[in-house]
Amino acid sequence: MTFTPALALVTGASSGLGALIARRVAERGSDLVLVARRRDRLAELAAELRRRHGVQAHPVVMDLGRPGAGPALLAAMPEEVAHRPLDLVVNNAGFGLYGPLLGQDAERLEEMLTLNVTALTSITRTLLEPMVRRGHGTLVNVASTGGFQPAPGLAAYVASKAYVLHLTEALWQELRRTRVRVTALCPGPTSTEFFDVAGSEHGALGGKVTTPEQVVDALMTALDRRRLPPYLVPDLPNQVQAVAARVLPRRLTLGVAARVLKQG
Ligand SMILES: NC(=O)c1ccc[n+]([C@@H]2O[C@H](COP(=O)([O-])OP(=O)(O)OC[C@H]3O[C@@H](n4cnc5c(N)ncnc54)[C@H](OP(=O)(O)O)[C@@H]3O)[C@@H](O)[C@H]2O)c1
Repeated sequence: MTFTPALALVTGASSGLGALIARRVAERGSDLVLVARRRDRLAELAAELRRRHGVQAHPVVMDLGRPGAGPALLAAMPEEVAHRPLDLVVNNAGFGLYGPLLGQDAERLEEMLTLNVTALTSITRTLLEPMVRRGHGTLVNVASTGGFQPAPGLAAYVASKAYVLHLTEALWQELRRTRVRVTALCPGPTSTEFFDVAGSEHGALGGKVTTPEQVVDALMTALDRRRLPPYLVPDLPNQVQAVAARVLPRRLTLGVAARVLKQG
């Protein structure tokens, strides 16, 4: 089947993976709610989606890095779509901080955890409820291959993504008997603005960098299936890394991560 949600919401839609997911979903004729802080970027993308695909696209300019993100987002839903059910929610907004934990700005660290962990949980809790009541809907939480193992140099970031991964896997099991689908999308290093924001170069993470297209193609293919796996790792080398991180001794994966990230 071709998955065509009537109405989808994507957080972090102003760049990178979120913007591409929004484009791919709009191509299929879905109306969209686009959430992020950069007003101009969202307005540009919304105009492009309306023009190219004739869909409704509504920007919601919001800083999700504050407590109560879920209820705040629900209250900010544009009037034109506020009465309509959401068929797809993509919890994608997030950022990383590269470098030793003790070298990081304390406020920025809290901002990251609030966005990556607290806001994602709040949005999940708030927007899943109506889906479960209706017995229909799909939730994608964007985690990372980093969520499979600790990583010196990205310690708090990958810990936040481990949270997203574990939360989503558990939720997958809790909702297994409903018709609501849940998955954690776990990209490996991908060429977006992520590394500029994190204060790192792609090279600092070593290995192969995937393109946003590779990641989003894998997501769209998975969404077309009736059932979603608890987590989804695009690209074979990243799949191998994820499995290895789950089966190898922690000391070994820590040592490898430290070498790759040039930390410790
Ligand atoms: N690229 C990678 O290597 C990689 C790998 C694994 C996982 N991921 C995850 O993939 C997701 C998307 O990242 P990306 O690679 O596409 O990076 P990106 O291009 O930097 O996109 C991040 C998005 O999050 C939004 N955002 C950041 N802070 C926000 C806030 N406080 N409130 C609302 N929106 C906020 C940004 O929009 P505004 O700045 O306009 O608010 C932007 O749209 C993230 O969760 C990231 O952790 C990325």
